[in-house]
Amino acid sequence: MCGIVCYIGSRPCVDIILQGLTRLEYRGYDSAGIAVHDGEMLKVVRAQGKLVNLGTALEKTPLAGKLGMGHTRWATHGRPSENNAHPHMVNGVAVVHNGILENHLELRREIEQTGATFSSETDTEIFAHLISAALEKNPDLVAAVRQVLSRVTGSYAIAVIAKSDPGRVVVAKNSSPLVIGVGDGETFAASDIPAILKHTNRMVFMEDRELAVLTAEGFSIHEIDGPEITREPKTIEWSATQAEKGGYRHFMLKEIHEQPRVMEDTMRGRVSIEGSGVATELMGLDDLSARRVRRIVLLACGTSYHASLVGKYWLENLAKVPTEVELASEYRARNPLVDPNDLVIPVSQSGETIDTLEAVKVAKEGGASILAIANVLDSAIPRASDGSLYTHAGPEIGVASTKCFTAQLTALFMLAVHLGRRRGVLEKPRARELLEGLLKIPALMREILNDSEHIEELARELASYSNCLYLGRRLLFPIALEGALKLKEIAYIHAEGYAAGEMKHGPIALIDENMPVVVVMPTDSSFNRISGNVQEVLARGGRVIAVGTRGEKTLDALDVKRIEIPACLQELYPILAVIPLQLLAYYVADFKGTDVDQPRNLAKTVTVE
Ligand code: AGP
Repeated sequence: MCGIVCYIGSRPCVDIILQGLTRLEYRGYDSAGIAVHDGEMLKVVRAQGKLVNLGTALEKTPLAGKLGMGHTRWATHGRPSENNAHPHMVNGVAVVHNGILENHLELRREIEQTGATFSSETDTEIFAHLISAALEKNPDLVAAVRQVLSRVTGSYAIAVIAKSDPGRVVVAKNSSPLVIGVGDGETFAASDIPAILKHTNRMVFMEDRELAVLTAEGFSIHEIDGPEITREPKTIEWSATQAEKGGYRHFMLKEIHEQPRVMEDTMRGRVSIEGSGVATELMGLDDLSARRVRRIVLLACGTSYHASLVGKYWLENLAKVPTEVELASEYRARNPLVDPNDLVIPVSQSGETIDTLEAVKVAKEGGASILAIANVLDSAIPRASDGSLYTHAGPEIGVASTKCFTAQLTALFMLAVHLGRRRGVLEKPRARELLEGLLKIPALMREILNDSEHIEELARELASYSNCLYLGRRLLFPIALEGALKLKEIAYIHAEGYAAGEMKHGPIALIDENMPVVVVMPTDSSFNRISGNVQEVLARGGRVIAVGTRGEKTLDALDVKRIEIPACLQELYPILAVIPLQLLAYYVADFKGTDVDQPRNLAKTVTVE
């Protein structure tokens, strides 16, 4: 989730761009840069770290011009560094990019074979090389960009400025967001509205596979490989703060709704249906090491621990590896038995959680191989690991983790398929079926997200209770735990997740009309058993909210309130079933008026003991 800001017009552009980049702060940045054309020269200044560092760099190397573009980077390929910061410039062509190129490796090899050398580890630099080479054959910048875009696959929002073309910015979009701002005698482009709303509220939203040419006089939009398109600007009525949240009331709600795209980004370039496998950048985990793994130990805290509990089912059932899941804080304190044939997998959104980091150190001392699943590139836990499998969720602003949880589930599922194939225990047809099922999930998530009014009504009722029980079985037991954690941490209601099979061993004593019970019960192999648990609860005057598969007739016979989710492969229900629970907790908290994005007593990352 990088941030892009472009300007062309009659005013000096540097401050306009820098201020715009600060309005994209919620998109995160570990480095930033700016390119400015002064009418003759095209110059670039970049800096690692927060945006303030770019300002300091510009004090040392001032830039002046009325045509420019800036970028804040959320690293996905290539660690955070000045060298990897955008813009990337090659032979007078500067490019900024937000997205992930899927065929970057083959393009990089092709460029290197021409004798060109790369100055960064990024996929973005490929654009600068290719466009520069195309301009040598045809000086038309638009034609050069078009030709290059016909060769790349993946997601992008790019902006291109050429030294040889001081009157234009060429931008293009596919999967990553890009909006054009229409001013009087000036034109803008940005990753999101907040960056340019101060200057204009007339916005043109670009669609996938479109290219636009920006000049001081205005803009034109074209299909990347087709004709010009006419599109009228929309007038945005949001405030700047509303715009940062994309019009949602809270970052948490925005992030819940981002999950389909986040899942697509995390799978992008990794899931191969033809190969029925998963291409994961697992350092040191070749066939031999995959076969040598005797045990997997997942280490995590909080929501990441719940994701790990689901991962256990997948790793044992798909990769046939005995898998343990450990609370990192307990593992590090227990002097655990570690075997050199263990594969230890810390799961962490921030990559900085102190308990998980310290647990990793204990496992390393025992000689285990470490593979980190993290969201923040080059954070402490991946740096302490032998290999990393990154989620591509972008910065998660809400303290309550939502999009990173489903991104972690996606990564764990891909890892299980990958290991199953590498270990020769998962047949190709079955792997294909599983990956086809995974690829369908984002669309099914959107169905749930587009039909959430009913959940809001249920939340209004739930908000009046002081306690709540969440039940699930097998793969859905961890989802019950996660649903309970969400209600606890943002609505401050005591909620407990429990294995449904455990009800008769004590918790059923809690059941009366004051103890609402949320039961996660999609139609899977545990459905009949958990239906029995529901009847036990109803028989004691309990009130049940059932998260069930759409159209499940058996539920008609139960006196329960229903939240329906679409049918999917039963192994994948955890990814879908958690969405209604996230929304339920969110709406309860919003009704109660708690600080949803910054709940009391909590920090986004627990980096102290
Ligand atoms: C989840 O909603 C919480 N914010 C918290 O439990 C979090 O998952 C936990 O602190 C682990 O953080 P990490 O994933 O960054 O390691």
